[in-house]
Amino acid sequence: MTGISAFIKNCWYVAAWSDEIGASAFLARSIIGMPLMFWREDGGRLVAFEDRCCHRGAPLSLGRREPAGIRCMYHGMLFEGSGKCIEIPSQEFIPEAARVRTFPVVERHKWVWVWMGDPAHADQSLIPDTHYLDDPGWRGTPGYMHYRANYLLIADNLLDFSHLAYVHEKTLGGSSKYAQIRPKITRTARGIRVERWLLDDEPAPFLKTIKTWPGNVDRWNIYDVVMPGVLLMDSGSAPVNSGAPQGNRQDCAEFFGCQAITPETATTSHYFFQQSHNFALHDPQVTENLRLAVLAGFQEDKDMIEAQQRVLDMDPQFRMLGLRMDTALGNFRLLVEKTIADEQRAPSAASAA
Ligand code: FES
Ligand SMILES: [Fe+2]
Repeated sequence: MTGISAFIKNCWYVAAWSDEIGASAFLARSIIGMPLMFWREDGGRLVAFEDRCCHRGAPLSLGRREPAGIRCMYHGMLFEGSGKCIEIPSQEFIPEAARVRTFPVVERHKWVWVWMGDPAHADQSLIPDTHYLDDPGWRGTPGYMHYRANYLLIADNLLDFSHLAYVHEKTLGGSSKYAQIRPKITRTARGIRVERWLLDDEPAPFLKTIKTWPGNVDRWNIYDVVMPGVLLMDSGSAPVNSGAPQGNRQDCAEFFGCQAITPETATTSHYFFQQSHNFALHDPQVTENLRLAVLAGFQEDKDMIEAQQRVLDMDPQFRMLGLRMDTALGNFRLLVEKTIADEQRAPSAASAA
């Protein structure tokens, strides 16, 4: 099993929501154990710096935004957006090594993506499609949680929805029938696809605050988890026997979830999410009730996973027991492990989303 302090480097990580980085504000955020600082040049272009001055290691996020760039507020070196130092107080000569490391960064559909590996391999076509985050045909509310847990424990949770029946019994989940389903699991190029249908059951508790039908529903969760930890999920419910499994989405409640788990350190993680709906677009109460339901559910996940992490920390010898329900997460862990091993053999060859 991959050590929890090993991370994939050649991949795009979600680092922030775009609006977390204002025109003159810095965002200091660590990704895979590397302190980063995000800021905008005049004109709005986003820059990702290592948050460490090349002089004596002071955080540049404690610096000052000046017209030409960022001034370190320890001894006053000034850096432009390329990372190059353009001024050193008390000397004219600026050595070539006087620069801070920069990282490829892309803003797309309200998410800021950063490439932590070899910049030569930062292929933007590897960024998953998350247009649901700002498509006018969908509505949702951006969310963020900070986790005191390793990112793979969160990925485990996303790859096994049998927990909906227990962790989210009164919110996102519902009957224990949900845990009895055997989902269809397939490997994709850079991750795992999970398809789960629950036919003819009561609507989930949260759904009753959003849309009502007289009887039972057919319910689906069809999603991809793409390395390093991006979930893209088509989900919804439709009146029973209305043909949803055959593709009829009339009179359904349809959602699209975009979620990203980004390791901060080996024991802490960032979690970005938005659950969007494409019906009742002009009813803000639907968007608000969905936001509240998702937050309640995700807090239940966080409470369970952080408690799990605390127990795991007490005994590093503990080995988890693999069960059938762990198939998807076991496959995902193997894929991550292989990608990390490939990168360590040939540091710039392998790449993931
Ligand atoms: S640590 Fe930044 S100028 Fe000295
Ligand atoms: Fe959950």
